[in-house]
Amino acid sequence: MITEQLGKYNFEYRDNTLHWYGVNIKEIAENVGTPVFIFSTEEFVKRIRRLKENTDYDHLLCFSLKSNNNPYFILAAKKEGYGVDVVSGGELYIARKAGVHPKKIVFSGVGKTNEEIQMAQKEGILLLNIESESEYKAVKEISKSQNLNFGISFRVKFEIALDKLHPYLGVGKKESKFGINEDLALELYKNAISNGLPIEGIHFHLGSQIKDLEIFRKASELCENFLGKIESLGCKIKYVDVGGGLGLDYEKLEEPNLKEYIDCFKNIGEKYKVIFELGRYLSAPSGILISKVIRKKEKEGSKVFLVVDSGMTETLRIPLYKVSHKVIPVNLRNSTEKVFDIVGPICENSDYIAQDIVFPNLEEGDLICVLYAGAYTTTMSSNYNGRLFPPEIIISNQKYFVSRKRQDYQELFSRDQFEEQT
Ligand code: LLP
Repeated sequence: MITEQLGKYNFEYRDNTLHWYGVNIKEIAENVGTPVFIFSTEEFVKRIRRLKENTDYDHLLCFSLKSNNNPYFILAAKKEGYGVDVVSGGELYIARKAGVHPKKIVFSGVGKTNEEIQMAQKEGILLLNIESESEYKAVKEISKSQNLNFGISFRVKFEIALDKLHPYLGVGKKESKFGINEDLALELYKNAISNGLPIEGIHFHLGSQIKDLEIFRKASELCENFLGKIESLGCKIKYVDVGGGLGLDYEKLEEPNLKEYIDCFKNIGEKYKVIFELGRYLSAPSGILISKVIRKKEKEGSKVFLVVDSGMTETLRIPLYKVSHKVIPVNLRNSTEKVFDIVGPICENSDYIAQDIVFPNLEEGDLICVLYAGAYTTTMSSNYNGRLFPPEIIISNQKYFVSRKRQDYQELFSRDQFEEQT
């Protein structure tokens, strides 16, 4: 097993039972039930501070709420002096509810509704990253009757080769729905200048799970070049929002070179305030998912299945992108290892957690731990098959508490009415 790596994330087996940051994981599962998400604010803050300590230029970290919107992650980012990146009214709502200062909130998204733009106006956020000419027109319309209460920024699509990225995750591609091509963006900047609108920034986001730092370097270069063009129009920009996307190694759990990543934007950082919209880098290693083996199927087919109580409703990203997450047992036992498929209870063939993995010979009732489960898990969960959202537990200072309770059946169907219609 990858014991050495696990130690770096503060996992350890004490008396053969998994502990994380000093907390007994089995005890949480026994008291709260499974499946259960466990998040460590200590790991999260450690990662934020690593970014802070390595960034030697003016910057603002806006944690990407789409990766994880647990209130205690938002509060931790806030406490570190940082903000959040939102992509919907819902995310803006929870950010404000958690007390994030509006001037530390950036709003991206290709389909913001007029109501959501109004919400950004009402809250007075830092930047609205405009993604289309039509969205720009909607903003301009508001500016006719009110002073704009947020800074304008355009999401520009630079011409960068992103073929190495997963086809679903290379969102900065020319043919993707996101952002505005350079020519049109230049036109819109010109128009915004001539209309006296508060242009404050520029935005790009290339994609997610980017491990080749050359991609960031190239984008940074193209952005500098573009900034030269808009500055020559007399436009003074304060913020360069470089998006998120820094990738992680889900197999070996080896950390990316953060300093090198930060240095990709050093030139920009000398002249502008750089906004990072990192999600996964901060949240993925800060969370785990604990599930219980419900059934073991050994004789029914050509494979041996461990059927556990979580699946694609919690870890959709596994079948959706055909990626893997490291899975480890919660209890170590002296048993031989076997090849298993770990699957969920959902009625789909795509409902698997790991295929053909060599794993200790677990029995029904044993617990498994899915690592790097803090990003794009809870936020992509669904109630498919009438399943309930699992609780979210925070561990901190060697203690734990429930931060989001498990959904119950009543809440699941609370929007329905059952009166017969005549
Ligand atoms: N900013 C924007 C505008 C984004 O669209 C995203 C992610 C981020 C920031 C944060 O990117 P990160 O640092 O987390 O890579 N569901 C996929 C990931 C989709 C990412 C979408 N946009 C997954 O499970 O891998």
